[in-house]
Amino acid sequence: MADCSTIFMGLQLSNPLVVASCSLTKSLKGIKKCVDAGAGAVVLKSLFEEQITADAQQLEHSMWIAGHSEAIDYVRNISRALGPKEYLTMIEKAKKATSIPIIASLNCISAKGYLDFARQIESAGADGLELNISIMPVEPEHTSESIEHMYLDVVDRVCHTITIPVAVKIGPYFTSLSRMAHEICNKGAKALVFFNRFFHPDIDIDKIALMTGYRFSSPDEMSGALRWIALLAGRVSCDFAASTGVHDGLGAIKHLLAGATIVQVCSVLYLKGISHIQTMLEQLLSWMDEHNYSTLEQFRGRLSQKESDRPELYERLQYIKTFVDID
Ligand SMILES: Cc1cc2nc3c(=O)[nH]c(=O)nc-3n(C[C@H](O)[C@H](O)[C@H](O)COP(=O)(O)O)c2cc1C
Repeated sequence: MADCSTIFMGLQLSNPLVVASCSLTKSLKGIKKCVDAGAGAVVLKSLFEEQITADAQQLEHSMWIAGHSEAIDYVRNISRALGPKEYLTMIEKAKKATSIPIIASLNCISAKGYLDFARQIESAGADGLELNISIMPVEPEHTSESIEHMYLDVVDRVCHTITIPVAVKIGPYFTSLSRMAHEICNKGAKALVFFNRFFHPDIDIDKIALMTGYRFSSPDEMSGALRWIALLAGRVSCDFAASTGVHDGLGAIKHLLAGATIVQVCSVLYLKGISHIQTMLEQLLSWMDEHNYSTLEQFRGRLSQKESDRPELYERLQYIKTFVDID
């Protein structure tokens, strides 16, 4: 039987299938289910500073109404400390109850938030931290450079504050993704996650109201990450995690061939159940046996742009018959 163990940002994983940050990993019960299904590691549901702040504001508001204005400052500080308490306790419990790497995830609205919570997450015993950074660039006065600087500043400060490995999960919307990937790694990130899949808004035309779009990905969404992993593999010196649209073992194999270190899965586990990880793992192992691969290193990155015999295909944007065989 092939060995599909791997090292991801310095952490030893029994296999490259990792449960992505989502509600399936927001409780100890959910984490244990992922372990039982054979996950190589889990990324916990993100801790959102915005949520903690909103909860604190709600509390402050009710105290104001009740006439306790003098206590508001005190409460503000307490709620900032207590907000993540449940999250930190879960990390501690997960570390005691399981033996796979537990990667926490953090999404903040301020650089201070990132630093404060990153320190607490490290102290709670997480094996790694994934920074879920996403800035919606709606303000016309914000230049691309200033927005990129916000990302890099956070990565720089967090990587210089904690010692556990840091992964950075980004979306695909950068003018120069290649430059950003290099810069993020230069700031000290040990891994990049390509890509976050953001909340999709939709419109209900019967109620004439805004609504939440469909939550889950489909397998044909994986090509964006596949292309970028293949383009950057061997050129950026950090590990790559593939995310978005991986619904079976075959999708995972494609990402590994493109150069991914690990593959994160989320939507398919909601659709087919957490035990689907086991099926994916079996597909990966049987494909490796079929192709006489006994380790991941023997084929990882074989179809990255650097190694491929058709490197131009990854840079191709337009459909032209000579190159893509269709009109
Ligand atoms: C219900 C749900 C909750 C999610 N919560 C988070 C989160 O807290 N933090 C995060 O970084 N990504 C979150 N994601 C995004 C996933 O981690 C993942 O990147 C995305 O769903 C694409 O992967 P997939 O195609 O395998 O679903 C969430 C996704 C779903 C469907």
